[in-house]
Amino acid sequence: MKKSVSVIMTIVLILGMLLCSVSAFAEENDTPFRISVSVNGNTSTTRGFCWYTRTETDSLIEIEGGNASQPEIKYDDVFEWEGNYCHKALVTGLEPGNVYTYTVGSKDVRSEEGTFVTDNGDDSFSFIAVADVQASSAENFEKGANTLKAGLEMFPDAEFYVNCGDFTNDSTNEEWDYYADSFDSINMSTTIAPVAGNHDGLGVWNWFNNLFNMDTSEAVQTLNGVNYSFDYGNAHIAVINTNDMLSTSLSQLDWLKKDMNSSDKDWKIVCMHKSPYTLGKDGKWPDALYLQESLASVLDSCDVDLVLSGHDHQYVRTKPLTNGKPAEDGVTYVLAGTAGSKRYEVREFMADQFLDNDNIAALTIQKDGYGNYWNGENWENTKEENIGGCFNSVSIEGGTLTFNSYILSDELTDDNGGRLITNIDSFTLTKETGKGKVTYTGDKTTSEALYALGVVPSFVSLAIYTFARWLPQFLWIVPKMIVALINGASF
Ligand SMILES: [Fe+2]
Repeated sequence: MKKSVSVIMTIVLILGMLLCSVSAFAEENDTPFRISVSVNGNTSTTRGFCWYTRTETDSLIEIEGGNASQPEIKYDDVFEWEGNYCHKALVTGLEPGNVYTYTVGSKDVRSEEGTFVTDNGDDSFSFIAVADVQASSAENFEKGANTLKAGLEMFPDAEFYVNCGDFTNDSTNEEWDYYADSFDSINMSTTIAPVAGNHDGLGVWNWFNNLFNMDTSEAVQTLNGVNYSFDYGNAHIAVINTNDMLSTSLSQLDWLKKDMNSSDKDWKIVCMHKSPYTLGKDGKWPDALYLQESLASVLDSCDVDLVLSGHDHQYVRTKPLTNGKPAEDGVTYVLAGTAGSKRYEVREFMADQFLDNDNIAALTIQKDGYGNYWNGENWENTKEENIGGCFNSVSIEGGTLTFNSYILSDELTDDNGGRLITNIDSFTLTKETGKGKVTYTGDKTTSEALYALGVVPSFVSLAIYTFARWLPQFLWIVPKMIVALINGASF
């Protein structure tokens, strides 16, 4: 009898343990990850949610905040993407200027609690901008995340952040999992405005659009990135996709022109990945030079104030430019440095050829030190010890835009034992408010058919430009490139 009881108890115990481990396994596979809340349309009332699970589950967002109305949630169908399951939902009916908390997941397995704020619509707000984490290892994703965290801690009132692209190096499942490990807690503490980098879109089709839930209603295409726009406070911000036709297609430029001219906001800001003005290693290729002219003339005509970009892993700010020359009320271009660990040197052989020295207001090299200005002969104020990840803050108060850029030192500590943060650039832009005008009231959207029709002219335009304008300039710097190569530069 005793023996039978003990056998039964053992079987029950084993069954119990099996059930527990099966349930733990199921829970682990249903746990949401790669969680983000993106800008998606109206920033006062709407947010785009995206998250993943390892197995197919239902989608459920539980959200709290606001005072009166209950937000509406529209779920997309769950779909498999590269072996995992992608969940997307659009939350509308949020109240302006409110703090919301939420969890995502299935009915049974919930995420940690996240939070974000909605735009209250007044003319005072701030945001953080970073670029080019472009990591492959868990360690380097963590370093990039620490840079962004330092920015969000220094500016706790920042209401969202822009990532100017190249989130990962190869856009693989493994890398996006590392990204999730390091960035999910950040993405669950604010709203992101994501920008597609070449590492997020070229040759890795659909990854970018499947990682975030952006408003693609006006996108010229979504295969290798996405263009969209939004208002925040008294600013209109457009995100463009520089993977489109290896640069920007004529269709996208047409959209940008219509988009900017459809807004009467005081400030006009453009965020993108590839930078038209740079002295990093990628500044020598035709797409950068093409951007200088094809895009710049559109920005000039739309009274854009500030352009934020990435791609070349250094910090460069131009003077305000119109038609490629310094001019009052021109467009200020900022290459936002790299938040990550891959950092480019300055390529002095390109100075004056692909970036006129007179156009540079500030430049910081994160690899070998930094130079605050070009004195006509060399970069001044080099401080080789000041090496680390870069973050930027943009703060708008009515007619004043204040920009600050910082480096979070890799190794140096401050007086409190925290990592040293150095302000590497600071500038303000001012303007008279209330003067913005809508000069375009038609349809901004670009149909697939129209986009397809523009494919050939866009490539022909880039090709003609390349041979007629870029190639002679490139050949001119080849001897200097060879000398740089002999001296140990990399390309
Ligand atoms: Fe890039």
